[in-house]
Amino acid sequence: MSDKNMQPTVYNDTVVRQFSIMAVVWGVVGMLVGVIIAAQLIWPELNLGLPWTSYGRLRPLHTNAVIFAFGGCTLFATSYYVVQRTCQVRLFSDKLATFTFWGWQLVILAAAISLPLGYTTAKEYAELEWPIDILIAIVWVSYAIVFFGTIAKRKVKHIYVANWFFASFIIAVAILHIVNSAEVPAGWMKSYSAYAGVQDAMVEWWYGHNAVGFFLTAGFLGIMYYFVPKQAERPVYSYRLSIVHFWALIFTYMWAGPHHLHYTALPDWTQTLGMVFSLILLAPSWGGMINGMMTMSGAWHKLRDDPILRFLIVSLSFYGMSTFEGPMMAIKTVNALSHYTDWTIAHVHSGALGWVGLISMGSLYYMVPRLFGMKQMYSKRAIELHFWMATIGIVLYISSMWIAGVMEGLMWRAINTDGTLTYTFVEVVKATHPFYMVRLLGGVLYLGGMVVMLWNVLKTASSGHPTDAAIPHLVAHA
Ligand code: HEM
Ligand code: HEM
Repeated sequence: MSDKNMQPTVYNDTVVRQFSIMAVVWGVVGMLVGVIIAAQLIWPELNLGLPWTSYGRLRPLHTNAVIFAFGGCTLFATSYYVVQRTCQVRLFSDKLATFTFWGWQLVILAAAISLPLGYTTAKEYAELEWPIDILIAIVWVSYAIVFFGTIAKRKVKHIYVANWFFASFIIAVAILHIVNSAEVPAGWMKSYSAYAGVQDAMVEWWYGHNAVGFFLTAGFLGIMYYFVPKQAERPVYSYRLSIVHFWALIFTYMWAGPHHLHYTALPDWTQTLGMVFSLILLAPSWGGMINGMMTMSGAWHKLRDDPILRFLIVSLSFYGMSTFEGPMMAIKTVNALSHYTDWTIAHVHSGALGWVGLISMGSLYYMVPRLFGMKQMYSKRAIELHFWMATIGIVLYISSMWIAGVMEGLMWRAINTDGTLTYTFVEVVKATHPFYMVRLLGGVLYLGGMVVMLWNVLKTASSGHPTDAAIPHLVAHA
């Protein structure tokens, strides 16, 4: 544990192991809830007639579980893994790191209980009530102390670009959460937003869009910048591009929120501003994607027999796809068709299943054997199987929702010569039925892949034993 100078000689990988295992567990849980609500949209009786299992309560349970439990645990695990290795020091504080693990699990548990019970602020992605908000803020500040404390005591002068992305994600999420959660308590599980009317909506979507930009994007780009070069055994394609990518991305994201509020009471110029910044956002997004992809130069052949690399690279292609689609949907006239339809759901899941999901899985497959002293995962064939189940699942999910979405948009606006609507709302709902079946099939496949992953991870963990990696330069001096 300690050398002559009483300095720890190994990384704190205990907390990385804990977060990694829970990421997989919460992935299965969150996606299972996704499959249940996808089925409820086909067979509404599946709500069992109970308030706790109704669609309106399970939907936020799904979004919170996949984003904050699955995505959140992956981000904690990878950022703690990466910051230690790129700074060549142990985490700043073991106690505080352990606190972030248990604190975050407590937040997840509180969400899993309070959302089905119907407690909600009614703000999307910020549904949790004020006592849980306070807990989140405390855990997040502790996370920031551990992360930045580790950067501060680093033994390597340079701060690797992955840490820049993790740092911006941690700071931005703290600001977004604290500002958007400003609320007046009216009882233990009831509160009113500090903002009113259109300002409330603006703050909410400034938060909501940057939750996408910083939680679901910047943090995962941190993952990309470490794990893609590692697994491909190639340096990042362009370090200069990564710096330009970083500053352009974090500057632009902050302004794009109003594209969620097109054609609302929000002043028109604000909507246009949001649209323009969303279009600009295409450039840094693609700059990042190209930087990740081109890292494969000279290593493309590895994709043939390395399923982990395939997870990482296919994830980047979905990132490119959803960040092309997003700016297009932000154009007001396009949004007039896509808004309120399943097109949005297709876009969300090409980003969520394709980008966030696949890159999480790839990085977890990279870390897990190393965390348990194994050369590789228990079963490589199971990783292959998972890859194909996930990829086919995504394609079924998003293509069915694209077709359903465009169809809904066109049917809603179809007008007869006498000015009356061509279709009733119910006719449109009925027309979506076959596409909802295909989406469900895609979701079941994607969830099935995640179950295969859980099995493989547990087998790897039980075949090996928890192993904390040695800090290289300290070993060299010992
Ligand atoms: C088995 C996998 C999954 C299935 C079957 C699934 C299914 C669903 C369904 C049915 C909805 C509601 C759609 C609607 O209201 O019309 C939804 C919403 C959502 N899901 Fe998933 N999901 C899955 C995985 C994920 C993952 C991994 C993420 C994020 C990392 C995610 C993020 C979201 C978000 C953000 C929404 C809300 C979208 C919006 O309000 O526009 N989902 N999901
Ligand atoms: C350049 C990047 C992107 C832009 C400009 C963009 C733009 C948009 C637009 C215009 C909408 C529809 C808003 C509406 O009609 O209500 C939307 C919805 C959404 N996008 Fe993106 N998007 C981008 C990337 C991504 C990525 C990478 C993800 C996921 C990882 C993502 C997740 C979401 C979610 C969750 C929603 C649904 C929000 C809601 O209504 O609940 N976006 N995005």
